[in-house]
Amino acid sequence: MSAIYTPPSIRRFTPNFMCFSTWVDHMPFGYDIVAAVKPKLVVELGTQGGLSFFTFCQSIKENEIDGVCYAVDTWEGEEHTGKYDEEVFNSVNDHARKEYAGCSYLMRMLFEEARPHFSDESIELLHIDGLHTYDAVKEDFETWYPKVKPGGVILFHDIYARMMDFGAWKFWEELSQQYSTFEFKHGFGLGVLQKPLADGSKPQNEEQLLKILFAGNDQDHADLRAFYIHAAKYLELGRKVARQEKMKQKRLEQQKQQQKKQNQ
Ligand SMILES: C[S@@+](CC[C@H](N)C(=O)[O-])C[C@H]1O[C@@H](n2cnc3c(N)ncnc32)[C@H](O)[C@@H]1O
Repeated sequence: MSAIYTPPSIRRFTPNFMCFSTWVDHMPFGYDIVAAVKPKLVVELGTQGGLSFFTFCQSIKENEIDGVCYAVDTWEGEEHTGKYDEEVFNSVNDHARKEYAGCSYLMRMLFEEARPHFSDESIELLHIDGLHTYDAVKEDFETWYPKVKPGGVILFHDIYARMMDFGAWKFWEELSQQYSTFEFKHGFGLGVLQKPLADGSKPQNEEQLLKILFAGNDQDHADLRAFYIHAAKYLELGRKVARQEKMKQKRLEQQKQQQKKQNQ
């Protein structure tokens, strides 16, 4: 990977929010793409427990970007996630209020109900992560595309998920024939698409990450993919060590209590 690209996630990213999510392997990239795009407006379609959403929010805050993040979800679940508990929304709401008041907004409604609230060509980073059937992903893309600013970036999760009736992979294959795209294969796949300028031309990107994504050579791309696989592994090992440390402390505490009882 180009020697001049030093991802912000390497320098200062320690996730301050965790929950179970298959998005976990994309956290370092999610942090870095926000730092690269410096979006005034981020919209996420499909938030559930908030892992991807709070990665974007954390990057907005720590990289001092003058932007806001909107999360759109019914917080009820659908065919693929299954119906889930009210606890999921409450946890996202609590964390958003505590950590990101003023730069994060939750829109508890259907995607189509949220859409009229956004002006055309206003969204600089859109994350499409709702229902993953072919038809649903196609509809989310086609109906929200006009809301994305020319030069803006759209992320798609699960473009390598082939279970059940998941069809993001199929729609992604079609998109990558027509647009400037990049794909990560790990973590069920993450697609990155840059909207062309109004005259149909490719944006001239200044930011190093965007240059690598949309104008890099095969070696740059292979290096970038390898980097983000390792970055995710590094965070995973960090969590494992923290869990082991916590268990060790707990055991020591229990031993101390036992010793105290025996001495009485
Ligand atoms: C795959 S999950 C999102 C995962 C999340 N981005 C993460 O980081 O873990 C999909 C979510 O999209 C929501 N959803 C799907 N279709 C929707 C629609 N048409 N309107 C509103 N919410 C929708 C579901 O309620 C579910 O919570």
